[in-house]
Amino acid sequence: MALKIEQFMCRSDNFGILVHDTETGETALIDAPEERAILSAVERTGWRPTMILTTHHHPDHVEANLALKERFGLTITGPAAEADRIPGIDRTVSEGDTVSVGKQDATVIETPGHTAGHVSYHFAEAGIVFTADTLFALGCGRLFECKPPVMLASLKKLAALPLETIVYCGHEYTETNARFALTVDPTNSALRERAKEISRLRSEGRPTLPTTVGREMATNPFLRWHDPVIRRNLGMEDASDEAVFAEIRKRKDIS
Ligand SMILES: [Fe+2]
Repeated sequence: MALKIEQFMCRSDNFGILVHDTETGETALIDAPEERAILSAVERTGWRPTMILTTHHHPDHVEANLALKERFGLTITGPAAEADRIPGIDRTVSEGDTVSVGKQDATVIETPGHTAGHVSYHFAEAGIVFTADTLFALGCGRLFECKPPVMLASLKKLAALPLETIVYCGHEYTETNARFALTVDPTNSALRERAKEISRLRSEGRPTLPTTVGREMATNPFLRWHDPVIRRNLGMEDASDEAVFAEIRKRKDIS
């Protein structure tokens, strides 16, 4: 594969991600959660980043922007809708724009919900999408700035990507997400198997990410608003997708 990925922990549960085009040597960071952890990853890989692709404005995703810009002279790309809250931003992007890491192109997908301007970056040829705090393994981001229908529309866009698409997320939240998922979808055998695997990985101190779109479609309740068993469990057989999604999100918020 021409695109190599280095995923590593930052802060307590954020992922730092380096994206490296082997053909040209160009490297991008997906967000900049913590300077020290990122510098270690750069040293370990030897991949010097020339750009940051920012997903949203939250401090735990942009904290190291200015320090890394000063150190590496890199450029910072981020969502136009949040440009005023992204330190050091050079280029703003919106739905359908292309950003290139060497010879690998990513399409910008606007995925509002967690924040109003959140974007995901989809490298179609490599079959990888970076969804940060929109789609998590077995979960989705909290709705800080938008109503449920907005997040649902964003998740539907991600669910429409090819099932084999590899998904990298912003946080290691999978174990608590699995516990919640089992409360709304307890008889889903794929979910039960996955929950066991997640417990094993975490007990070994290993990450549960990346995942795939197909895996999430089969096990993530926030992508299963259409599932008759979940609907029955919620007593919402005939409700709209929006209502089912909002109910699942509400239950997770108070869980
Ligand atoms: Fe966030």
